[in-house]
Amino acid sequence: MKVSVIGAGTMGNGIAQVFAQKGTDVILVDTFPDAIKKALETMKSSLEKLQRKGAIREDPNIVLSRIKTETSLSALSESDVYIEAVPEKPEIKKTAIEAISSVARPDSIVASNTSSISINLLSSYCKFPQNFVGMHFFNPVPVMKLVEIVKSNRTSEETLNKVMSLVTLLDKQYVVSSDYPGFISNRILMPLLNEAMLALEQGISTKEDIDKTMKLGMNHPMGPLELADFIGLDVTRDIMEVLYREFGDHRYKPPIILRNLVNSGKLGRKSGEGFYKY
Ligand SMILES: NC(=O)c1ccc[n+]([C@@H]2O[C@H](COP(=O)([O-])OP(=O)(O)OC[C@H]3O[C@@H](n4cnc5c(N)ncnc54)[C@H](O)[C@@H]3O)[C@@H](O)[C@H]2O)c1
Repeated sequence: MKVSVIGAGTMGNGIAQVFAQKGTDVILVDTFPDAIKKALETMKSSLEKLQRKGAIREDPNIVLSRIKTETSLSALSESDVYIEAVPEKPEIKKTAIEAISSVARPDSIVASNTSSISINLLSSYCKFPQNFVGMHFFNPVPVMKLVEIVKSNRTSEETLNKVMSLVTLLDKQYVVSSDYPGFISNRILMPLLNEAMLALEQGISTKEDIDKTMKLGMNHPMGPLELADFIGLDVTRDIMEVLYREFGDHRYKPPIILRNLVNSGKLGRKSGEGFYKY
């Protein structure tokens, strides 16, 4: 099997890695050479950590040797599965899906890792909409057990069955959602992150105490502000923008404190600072 992953950021490199760990050949495409360099470093250090913990037996270099990298969408070629993990902007996703469509076979699966954009909309950019599906992985991909499978009105049963088998091959579990803004996970998560940011903005408490409340009082493994930093504040804002637009509900409106952090380049863990410093 050959899998192409488009976008080598937080999610794309994790997706490429988990397929390579299962012996699959992967092409990882990102239009920014620096992103490819960073992705290779991230995957190497993740694989070394997994090896130290005894979670993988193979040499990390052998796993990495299955991943070929490219820096142009025009380098895409025939694959059994394409998964796009480019930024959460419909126009960027459109470009990626059209490029995939120009080389996909009539039986190739085309999946989007979108957190919030309509799968019906994205499938309209694909030459074979019946093969198009949402495959929403969670961060960090090598660790998180869930994939949310999202079907559009045109996703075929055959595609759904193939994607369920893919998730099982990766030793992960799936849930199936219809195409509704935020699917299951972000529809529930985003209002929580939003309220935590508003509580901070309104001076109700410190960031540490807001996070501590949810960790020790509600048994969440991470506090909501810590989690937003982990997801990426730009990604969080983009998801909220889509949900706010789609639902028209203030529960999803990105708070000023979030916008200001993103506008000043503080994107969370990946940039070294967000609500916290790393
Ligand atoms: N971060 C999370 O926790 C998370 C979780 C689940 C799903 N997602 C979704 O995954 C997708 C990617 O998010 P991310 O956090 O990995 O973002 P990211 O910003 O870390 O990575 C996106 C990558 O895409 C690359 N890129 C931009 N334009 C491109 C193009 N035209 N062709 C190829 N590559 C291009 C960028 O260089 C970057 O490396 C989004 O749809 C997001 O909603 C994110």
